[in-house]
Amino acid sequence: MRFVDVDTIKEGMELAKTIYGKNGEVMLRKGTFIKNPFAKRLKQLGYPGIYINDAFSEDIIIEEIISEELRQKATFTIKKIFNSIESNPTINKNLNSNITALKSIIDEIMSQIISTDIALVNIRDLKNFDDYTYYHSVNVAVLSILIGRALGLKEDQLRELGISAILHDVGKIFIGAEIINKPDVLTMEEYEMVKEHSREGYKYLKDDFNVPSKVYVSILQHHENYDGKGYPSGLSKEQIFLYARIISVADVYDALTSERPYKRAEAPNKALEYILQNEGKKFDPQVVKVISEKFAPFPVGTFVKLSNGMMGIVVENFSNTCLKPKIKIFWQDGKPVTQVLVNLRDDEIYKDVEVLSSISGL
Ligand SMILES: [Fe+2]
Repeated sequence: MRFVDVDTIKEGMELAKTIYGKNGEVMLRKGTFIKNPFAKRLKQLGYPGIYINDAFSEDIIIEEIISEELRQKATFTIKKIFNSIESNPTINKNLNSNITALKSIIDEIMSQIISTDIALVNIRDLKNFDDYTYYHSVNVAVLSILIGRALGLKEDQLRELGISAILHDVGKIFIGAEIINKPDVLTMEEYEMVKEHSREGYKYLKDDFNVPSKVYVSILQHHENYDGKGYPSGLSKEQIFLYARIISVADVYDALTSERPYKRAEAPNKALEYILQNEGKKFDPQVVKVISEKFAPFPVGTFVKLSNGMMGIVVENFSNTCLKPKIKIFWQDGKPVTQVLVNLRDDEIYKDVEVLSSISGL
């Protein structure tokens, strides 16, 4: 299995992961051979790319962080909760049942992460434009739990962190859909209004939701920056609660790697570069350290170019040495060569070779 950018999808490619539509329905089942109108449609819907099976990648297995079924269930649950708040924000009925449903989803996510002992973020999350908020909320929860676990948080802390993360943008409900869903860059005035969402989420949860104070405080603080230049209060370093410092990085990573109506999705290595550049500025260095050890810049299934002129597909990544993957080589200096496996971490002769970039046009 390998990843192909939406612009390089070709007719006849075999889909390796099922694509779900707006309401969690199966849009294209894995094993389907792509026809031209579908490729166009996927781009319109906002998918950054797809996973396919082909001769280059048939033996490459990509491990999901959580199952696709659970991701769909979690997305559907958070969508239902957001919709129920939106339709009746002043009435508190159903909220306890909502929080019970959320807790059980977070518990399922935690138990899948713990039981499969996922060590790495080694896959691209593929979401569409329409349900971005819900897919994004779920992914921020998944990534935050992974980071929290690597930082040694206990189970009850991971649960609180997961609930804070899945609800981090709940305040956007109170900002107005025309601004939140604007398919364009915001004006300064609109941006100032959007910035209110962390306070709005805090106020709402504090008054009406039966959640611990750590949850609504984390939601209030998820746009604070480590250097004190964030909002709403300009808090810095340990003044910002740990969960908020974790959610802040997970939020930015997922947003950068997502396709939006006004911007293309960044490749994971580019998103990670941004996070590393902001270590100690926007982000807590201890959280950035975990990210650099656990988030693969070139996830399995990515076509890459190496500094010695070789090109191939990443077949394995290693925790703590994410810049040194194992790669199945197909080309050297643009010419096909006999397939060979190159391990940048362990093969002495390749110790100075680096991955230069990912390639989308193959
Ligand atoms: Fe936010």
